[in-house]
Amino acid sequence: MKALVLSGGKGTRLRPITHTSAKQLVPIANKPILFYGLEAIAEAGIKEVGVIVGDTADEIRSALKDGSRWGINITYIQQEAPLGLAHAVKIARDFLKDDDFVMYLGDNLIKDGLKEQIAQFVKNKPNAQILLAKVPHPENFGVAVLKDSKVINLEEKPKQPKSDLALVGVYMFDKNIHTAVNSIKPSDRGELEITDAIQYLIDNNYTVSPHIVQGWWKDTGKLDDMLEANRLILDTILTDTRGTVDSASNIEGKVVIEKGAKVVNSSIRGPAIIGENAEIINSYIGPFTSIYFNVKIENSEIEHSIVLENSTIKDIKRIGDSLIGQNVQISHTEKKPAAYRIMVGDSSKLEII
Ligand code: DAU
Repeated sequence: MKALVLSGGKGTRLRPITHTSAKQLVPIANKPILFYGLEAIAEAGIKEVGVIVGDTADEIRSALKDGSRWGINITYIQQEAPLGLAHAVKIARDFLKDDDFVMYLGDNLIKDGLKEQIAQFVKNKPNAQILLAKVPHPENFGVAVLKDSKVINLEEKPKQPKSDLALVGVYMFDKNIHTAVNSIKPSDRGELEITDAIQYLIDNNYTVSPHIVQGWWKDTGKLDDMLEANRLILDTILTDTRGTVDSASNIEGKVVIEKGAKVVNSSIRGPAIIGENAEIINSYIGPFTSIYFNVKIENSEIEHSIVLENSTIKDIKRIGDSLIGQNVQISHTEKKPAAYRIMVGDSSKLEII
């Protein structure tokens, strides 16, 4: 069994963060999203992993390298444009050969890993196995209709969904998927949809088995989903202090303080994580906050947020529900005329009080 991990695409819904970096590398609880997927793949015993890369290939390659840190062997497959999930399967043909494989969308997070699902696929030997989860807004996903526990219909982001069962971004296939991806046409959005390829399998009497996901699952493509994923992962952390905390500081609940981090005269209420060499000075860090490496927070309060590397927040009363990119500087000014002085990237979103 091989794995095909999709890390191309454009990440338009997470701009401006994704103007400059890959959405699959945004950290959740201080670990790039993609790493969770690779860990699950390695844990399931898979060694040969193909990684589809697009415009952000360099960044993905330098983060993943040859995969040896997970005990896997990575082959990079360049996709010239994000032409669809089924297109990714097409261009991976030489890597996949006729082997069974699990396809994993690099921006998805699954609590329970992949072991159980893969074991079920190997035991029952369907031609494809899809993972499904009940969601409140199925129109944002591929949607499946089941009858007598069989998948009878799949539609990609239907305006009027026929069920509330969304396709999770993890699929298992045998070699017949190659016939399917070569038989379908691009959708209205111009992509070769894996959903259509699986529908082809259904229409041609191949077996497509559903597996309903019991634990949580998150597609982290949007800000709110990203914050929720951060919340879910932070909920599972255990207190660990490798940095320094001075006697004037107060730490409550589960808090990880990574190597080289300094907490001075501050209050941290977990679950929260403070990254390597970060500095928290005269500040309050509230629950569900992830502060990445080399961040400096001074005379400020922040909660339910993610702050990426090398950013500085100084003299700010309160920040909440936010995703702050790399190398950002946010500060307070007494300069006159009193005004918000802002330099933000394209497609940024600010809500100011
Ligand atoms: O997250 C689950 C959903 O993922 C499913 O319910 C949908 O049926 C499925 O089509 C997919 O929908 P998205 O619109 O969320 O897919 P997205 O374009 O965000 O791409 C998913 C991942 O695959 C992302 O990490 C980028 C990567 N990708 C995407 C395309 C279209 C590629 O590597 N190449 C591509 O051509």
